[in-house]
Amino acid sequence: MREHPSNRVDFRSDTVTQPTAAMRKAMAAAPVGDDVLGDDATVMALQERVATMFGKEAGLFVASGTMSNAVALRTHTVPGDEIVCDKTAHIYRYEGGGYAALCGASVALVDGEKGLMTAEQVRSAVRKADGSGSHYPNASLVCVENTSNLGGGTCYDLDMLDDIAAAAKAMGCATHLDGARIFNAAAATGIDVARMCAGYDSVSICFSKGLGAPVGSVLVGSREFIQNAHRWRKMFGGGWRQAGLLAAACNHALDHHVDRLVEDHVRARTLAEGLNKLPAFSVDLTTVQTNMVYVDCAAPAQHVVEKLAGHGIDILDTAAHRVRFVVHLHITDEDVERLLSVCASEWA
Ligand SMILES: Cc1ncc(COP(=O)(O)O)c(C=O)c1O
Repeated sequence: MREHPSNRVDFRSDTVTQPTAAMRKAMAAAPVGDDVLGDDATVMALQERVATMFGKEAGLFVASGTMSNAVALRTHTVPGDEIVCDKTAHIYRYEGGGYAALCGASVALVDGEKGLMTAEQVRSAVRKADGSGSHYPNASLVCVENTSNLGGGTCYDLDMLDDIAAAAKAMGCATHLDGARIFNAAAATGIDVARMCAGYDSVSICFSKGLGAPVGSVLVGSREFIQNAHRWRKMFGGGWRQAGLLAAACNHALDHHVDRLVEDHVRARTLAEGLNKLPAFSVDLTTVQTNMVYVDCAAPAQHVVEKLAGHGIDILDTAAHRVRFVVHLHITDEDVERLLSVCASEWA
């Protein structure tokens, strides 16, 4: 039984979850203060807890994953710098061109596989101003996304993460990890998050995705980095007041919604294998490592979206013949069965 009762099954994203009754209770009971004045105890406790979990000195609670990445990118770079990331990276594809507008930075895109870059690819993408006769921009930051959203929810293995971080450092670049779904990566690979991020100067962690909080991300890094990030957050309009109400939801998510992520992964696998058996659909099962399933369809994606919507099932199209399903807190085994039986009858 879903805690959030609805006749519809919403596979559009893991951002659609509603706070559970227990989460709402924790929010209502949270002691709050004025975070701009630095005295919201719940925010401070969350920042410290997350920083410690990730093996970093300090944390900064912000409104969204996009804000967290934007603040990180702006803190790491100066105008005229270049940021190296995969061609599918969320910071490049879906954050409104913030790297250009807010940082004055360009992007060097890496042709990774399934959203994952190699150290060698990063090495050859880094262009330094020094020694170029002032021709090149100055690559100063390497960004990695784990899990990779557009890659299919894919995970880096530890060696790849360490090698990329070492390559970046050797070329004088800082490193940022967009860990919007880093707990999914940890659940799938068994790698501890602090170990995973050991080589990275900053990490952005989202609570309003698989973890089921209504709002919030935490950016972690060194004390000095977070002090500078705090100022950029202010300039981006992200200084907030009684944010402890929201931090309490994130705290609750850490206590109750981390260990259960493996359930989402099992359901995503069942969904992927079930759809892949139908001739009208095809799934690259090697990419189904966490809670996402990207599906190629013989029919136009828009047609599949509309047909399923007629059956009370919501999904997103991501290309002309491609749709995406995301499994989360409110998706049950019955929901997956319902989807598979609708697809089997509609596209027999
Ligand atoms: C990998 C990744 N990074 C960052 C974000 C941005 O998060 P938000 O929607 O909270 O701004 C998303 C959103 O889905 C994402 O998938």
